[in-house]
Amino acid sequence: MDAQSLLFGSRSNSSSPSIQNLKASFFSTLPNYFSPSPSSSIQSSRLVSFKIHHSVASHLVISKKSLQCQSRVEKVENVPDFDKDLGKRSKRKKLAVFVSGGGSNFRSIYEATVRGSVHGDIVVLVTNKQGCGGAEYARYKDIPVILFPKTKDEPESLSVNDLVTTLRRFEVDFILLAGYLKLIPDELIRAYPNSILNIHPSLLPAFGGKGYYGMKVHKAVIASGARYSGPTIHFVDEHYDTGRILAQRVVPVLASDTAEELAARVLCEEHQLFVEVAEAVCDDRIIWREDGVPMIQSKENPNDYS
Ligand code: GRF
Repeated sequence: MDAQSLLFGSRSNSSSPSIQNLKASFFSTLPNYFSPSPSSSIQSSRLVSFKIHHSVASHLVISKKSLQCQSRVEKVENVPDFDKDLGKRSKRKKLAVFVSGGGSNFRSIYEATVRGSVHGDIVVLVTNKQGCGGAEYARYKDIPVILFPKTKDEPESLSVNDLVTTLRRFEVDFILLAGYLKLIPDELIRAYPNSILNIHPSLLPAFGGKGYYGMKVHKAVIASGARYSGPTIHFVDEHYDTGRILAQRVVPVLASDTAEELAARVLCEEHQLFVEVAEAVCDDRIIWREDGVPMIQSKENPNDYS
């Protein structure tokens, strides 16, 4: 890939993930998929064109970092100064987190919002399990808890339309699925295009899809003989675990691993990865490559993407 055009900025208001070739018209008006929806509060988007040179990291220290492909990015047109803009933080984002279980990922993100590394706040927690650990923790922290989807047993649970209305009322910018086991309905995906992220405990596209959840994932990884596993964070589409991959981490699968041991190793990485992704999302550092792959712009070096 010699030259690429990239779309920069939040796509929370976009209605389609498709990426247009921007080489021909750098300053043309923003395409329709950037039109803000009336009820949403994120309105910034930037259009920048870069020439990208890919090369394998030249240093040979074997570490997670050095195994990444380095991208050197050179500005090729007189375009708005993105690097300068990066320093200016936009408004704090409002996050909704969805959980079904213990909520350890939710907790690590929450702590990062309090610490300040995530420039946003968790304004509501959504769960299908009233008494799960995540919901309990939210109540303890005075974060409103919403029950979804609607069930006969839970009169307070919301329909998808009511959920969308409620999330709008909370002015939610992004939805983070942190161990939420129900399929996300189309209505919600349409209401929050490219703004819903899920964490999955395997290296997608392997060991994902319907039926791959919890220990089943880790048992399948071990049974397959795979030597590596790790979490994936991806944008959510209408199927289980098929949306565009945003970030991954790798852990070894050891010869003697039980599913529980592997799960614990993966979970440890999940906590860090989800916080890093939440930081990037709240800093408007998600970049959509021309071919539709989302990437994270490095905070330290705005010319690096992963
Ligand atoms: C994590 O392993 C996540 O990948 C999966 O569900 C688990 C949730 O754990 N989707 P927790 O509730 O955050 O502790």
